[in-house]
Amino acid sequence: MFPVQRPRRLRENAALRFLVTETRLEPRNLVLPLFLVHGEGQRQPVPSLPGVNRHSLDTAGEVVAGAVDAGVRAVILFGIPAAKDERGTEASDPLGIVQEGVRRLKEDFPELLVITDVCLCQYTGSGHCGLLRDGRIDNDASIVRLAEVAVSHAQAGADVVAPSDMMDGRVAAIRAGLDREGYGMTPILSYAVKYASAFYGPFREAAGSEPQFGDRRGYQLNPANFRESMREAELDLQEGADILMVKPALPYLDILRSLRERFDLPLAAYQVSGEYAMLKAAAGRGWLEERPAVLEALTAIKRAGADLILTYYAVEAARWLTEG
Ligand code: PBG
Repeated sequence: MFPVQRPRRLRENAALRFLVTETRLEPRNLVLPLFLVHGEGQRQPVPSLPGVNRHSLDTAGEVVAGAVDAGVRAVILFGIPAAKDERGTEASDPLGIVQEGVRRLKEDFPELLVITDVCLCQYTGSGHCGLLRDGRIDNDASIVRLAEVAVSHAQAGADVVAPSDMMDGRVAAIRAGLDREGYGMTPILSYAVKYASAFYGPFREAAGSEPQFGDRRGYQLNPANFRESMREAELDLQEGADILMVKPALPYLDILRSLRERFDLPLAAYQVSGEYAMLKAAAGRGWLEERPAVLEALTAIKRAGADLILTYYAVEAARWLTEG
């Protein structure tokens, strides 16, 4: 074959490389996660997520203005409630931090797509994603509660709801709840394939959602399993999910690629807090060059099959992409 076959011919100069580039990451692919706290003027740094703050609604508006300016058109909201209790009451409170946040952001940024994380772990005293009965997760009571949470988000004006709890049957319960209340057109972005990952550590510091006993392996997927992820995705599709998500992203590109080949729904991937923290830490020590490393990781996630990527780097990455 050689010398007839010379793949390097198409790599010789920038114009040729540009012509044959297969994957183009764009700002519109990126979704910015935001941590919301009650109060005003709050900008609380998260030690394990340098550059990420927990914001009150006023300062969150400033961040969103910057994001929109950079070309990021979607955010996902996580709430830190005023108080936790057994049922995670604030999670569905019309005056809860997420519901207030949705209303405020939709008012100030009508073009912005506001996605809400639907879960209980920040709101329950146990720090678990479902409700407890006799020390165990009560799956079927939890999904009724999660549907209430999703409906309250839709009532506040959320464009998309994103359940991250990993209870069985929750997509169906949320779909039924939304439809019953007149939100038949509100899409569900399902965290369909969410692994029990060590890479969520910094998020739990930010959200105050560390489980108070045990861990999440009773509901999140075993990182060693592939086939089970396809089953989870299939079920969520049948239950009415509109977009399927894989989480974390970079350590699970094989899953993402297989979902891309098997399903025709849009796919999302979450570059989680630990992935961000690793990049930040290495860049901070001068061990990695931040910009190319981040863009390479995000491009790889898109190449593997993600249409949208949730990332704490959304704003910086969008700026890097448009600067060229
Ligand atoms: C909670 C939730 C988690 C994340 C998003 N939603 C953490 C967990 O399951 O403990 C992780 C996001 C991240 O690490 O950036 N339902």
